[in-house]
Amino acid sequence: MILEGIVTTLGADDQAHIAAMGATVPAVMESLMLRPFRSSATYENLRRRMEGVFHVTDDVELIVQAALGRWSVPVATAPVPDFPVPRLVDCCRWYAFQVRDIDHQADRATMQCRVVKWGRQRDFWGFNRAKHAVLELAIMATRIHLLPSTDIMNELERTRVIVDKTGGIAETRALAVMAGYISECRPRAEHE
Ligand SMILES: Cc1cc2nc3c(=O)[nH]c(=O)nc-3n(C[C@H](O)[C@H](O)[C@H](O)COP(=O)(O)O)c2cc1C
Repeated sequence: MILEGIVTTLGADDQAHIAAMGATVPAVMESLMLRPFRSSATYENLRRRMEGVFHVTDDVELIVQAALGRWSVPVATAPVPDFPVPRLVDCCRWYAFQVRDIDHQADRATMQCRVVKWGRQRDFWGFNRAKHAVLELAIMATRIHLLPSTDIMNELERTRVIVDKTGGIAETRALAVMAGYISECRPRAEHE
């Protein structure tokens, strides 16, 4: 199963880097597999330092910000005891991991990771259609240069209906960020 979440890593400057990332996980999360694009900062950071923290969260606004690199306010992080990479303060669960094996062959690397510490911060909010719709649109937004423009616009409209009907303030804000990003990036994508 793939869990969508957020990965923190350390950049060459020792600053925390925050990215939305899916992880393939077994039923008991003692290990996880990441598939970062080799063009991503997360790939570079993990290749260099081989350690990171995967977070399970229901905060789709944060996932959108992490996916697009558009932050409204700085995100609070906290140290993990005896581990070099900090974790997010606000999340449901976090899993500090060490990369044990990397396959660099494809555009997306495959990284087999061992969980070495984990923690639980708060409950998962629960199923909400707007959160899931925002998540799907966020994935499409990060692939905007690969997808037909009509697919993105249809998904944007579908998401707008669901967010209006079932979302809260955070989902509405996340949608606005994505709508702005899509309108900025779409013409460029169409001419590529
Ligand atoms: C829910 C979600 C899951 C994602 N999963 C991945 C992934 O598994 N691998 C990947 O390279 N990018 C993934 N992305 C896209 C990255 O978050 C996005 O390209 C980001 O800008 C790249 O991260 P970077 O900051 O490390 O360069 C995902 C985005 C979302 C919204």
